[in-house]
Amino acid sequence: MDLQVKIGELSLSNPVLTASGTFGYGIEFESFFDISRLGGICTKGLSLLPRVGNPPPRIRETASGMLNAIGLANIGVEAFCKDKLPRLRELGATVIPNLYASSVEDFIALAERLDREEGIAAVEVNVSCPNVTKGGLAFGVDPVAAAGVTAAVCKATRFPVWVKLSPEAGRITDVACACEEAGAQALSAINTIRGFAIDTETWRPLLANRTGGLSGPAIKPIAVRMVWEICQAVRIPVIGVGGIASAEDAIEFMLAGASAVQVGSANFRDPMASMTVLEGISAYCERKGLAAKDLIGKVVLD
Ligand SMILES: Cc1cc2nc3c(=O)[nH]c(=O)nc-3n(C[C@H](O)[C@H](O)[C@H](O)COP(=O)(O)O)c2cc1C
Repeated sequence: MDLQVKIGELSLSNPVLTASGTFGYGIEFESFFDISRLGGICTKGLSLLPRVGNPPPRIRETASGMLNAIGLANIGVEAFCKDKLPRLRELGATVIPNLYASSVEDFIALAERLDREEGIAAVEVNVSCPNVTKGGLAFGVDPVAAAGVTAAVCKATRFPVWVKLSPEAGRITDVACACEEAGAQALSAINTIRGFAIDTETWRPLLANRTGGLSGPAIKPIAVRMVWEICQAVRIPVIGVGGIASAEDAIEFMLAGASAVQVGSANFRDPMASMTVLEGISAYCERKGLAAKDLIGKVVLD
């Protein structure tokens, strides 16, 4: 089947990627399947220095989803380049490092550090993490701030820049347009939505951070709606993410206009989830006699 899709100048073998923070650095999954089969792997958010993240408990199950307040725990960009990237290159994976910083200067430093490496397909700029006190949402809900980060990262790297948008922006399309104008080659939508859960025995919050980001099937209709709206507002490709657990979920995003999709929380329940989605899309395209790219934006609205 012809499953190829184009994300700006980048050609992906298929439209199924894994979402940042739900697939480690990729190599944790190499015993489950050949990770080079994925359209791409968005790594856990990388910061300039290692971060321990928030105190536990930092993940809770909810009805049709999960709340997380990891707080961007990660090994830092240097350890990623030294200890993870060589293996990812060896395995032939399509790698998209996800970047987090609390200042524009740190975003630039991160992008410049990665620019010295080979084997990177694109970088995904996270301006939408709801679980950190600095950066994150502060950039993602403000079109001017989001555009500032985007322009700075674009200038600091030769790799295509994707920007990961927040559903918490007042008008996500305003942020999308600002990032497009600032040079983004693609947009990923959406990150998690803040939620709050309380233990009815202790009357205390279930997460040590109190609030956390809601993900999983519960947010899928919101994500599909936002992807659809963004696709009408911009000309660059949009990558759909939010609650995808089956091929049908992924196809829905593509019909709404997404050029590719990311599988997130579903990886926690089933490490093979992204492969199931990929195989399902392939079977669907075969049954319909279509290429994957023929699905993009084909929702029938009359
Ligand atoms: C435990 C966890 C950690 C995450 N970490 C990141 C991250 O580091 N950077 C980022 O851009 N998004 C992060 N996300 C957001 C996901 O990439 C994705 O946008 C979101 O979970 C919605 O997709 P899903 O419903 O398929 O999980 C994280 C999500 C979860 C559940």
